[in-house]
Amino acid sequence: KDISIIGVPMDYGQTRRGVDMGPSAIRYAGMNTRLEALGYTVHDEGDIKVEIKERADVDKNTNLKNLAAVASGNEQLAARVEEVREQDRFPLILGGDHSIAIGTLAGVAKGSENLGVIWYDAHGDLNTAETSPSGNIHGMPLAVSLGIGHPVLLNIGGYTPKIKPENLVIIGARSLDDGEKELIKEKGIKVYTMHEIDRLGMTQVMKETIDYLSGTDGVHLSLDLDGLDPDDAPGVGTPVKGGISYRESHLAMEMLAEADMVTSAEFVEVNPILDQHNKTAEVAVALMSSLFGDKLL
Ligand code: ARG
Ligand code: MN
Ligand code: MN
Ligand code: MN
Repeated sequence: KDISIIGVPMDYGQTRRGVDMGPSAIRYAGMNTRLEALGYTVHDEGDIKVEIKERADVDKNTNLKNLAAVASGNEQLAARVEEVREQDRFPLILGGDHSIAIGTLAGVAKGSENLGVIWYDAHGDLNTAETSPSGNIHGMPLAVSLGIGHPVLLNIGGYTPKIKPENLVIIGARSLDDGEKELIKEKGIKVYTMHEIDRLGMTQVMKETIDYLSGTDGVHLSLDLDGLDPDDAPGVGTPVKGGISYRESHLAMEMLAEADMVTSAEFVEVNPILDQHNKTAEVAVALMSSLFGDKLL
């Protein structure tokens, strides 16, 4: 019952400033007290030191933005996450933009052949330099973790790939680029878009997800706050209308808690500068508390 918190003030995976303050906003929303009230011992390991570098536009050779800054933050993160796992504590990572999933997964997947992943997001984050419309690395971490992308990103943590396509479920997708759609088909990735969530209901989506991932060696939850509807989570850099509701998200977390299968988690893309009175960070903390077993009664 020990949780280690690692903050990652990373904003080089995209171009909107402020997402580097996500970890502070989440802590300010009362995370530690909420988790302690549930009976956990919370070890706040502080933040990764993200190097301050000059912000560059897309590099002509790589078609990536800020590769060096993203890579160095993620290398540190991978090493810290690995340490947390060696201590048998639950790694809970606070973002920062979603590029940090590269480092988180490098740390949590080490030594595990069949780590399951739930990618809760409006986006697929399955772009490569070739398919990306933006050159923003926060649109690429899932492809990188599957072993597709720039070698510097693939080699974070010293091995590739981190995960297998058959151990992955994407939930909440509603903005997929053409190259991402192709990759999903090619790899046979399980995706519940908003269409399936509307049609089946979140209960069925989570039942199927839990069943689908039941043979894995643990599950990492990568929760991008933009998976939720922007009405419920406005403080994100790439909002997309028609998202998962606040209550559906709680239901998803509650069902994961009941299934007792999540072994690490990250909450990313909280940008307090774009937020309304820290609403999005508060949503993140509320969802964490459901994930860690809080019940309404
Ligand atoms: N698909 C777009 C891109 O690659 C948006 C990605 C948004 N990703 C995120 N983690 N919010 O640029
Ligand atoms: Mn997203
Ligand atoms: Mn709905
Ligand atoms: Mn994302």
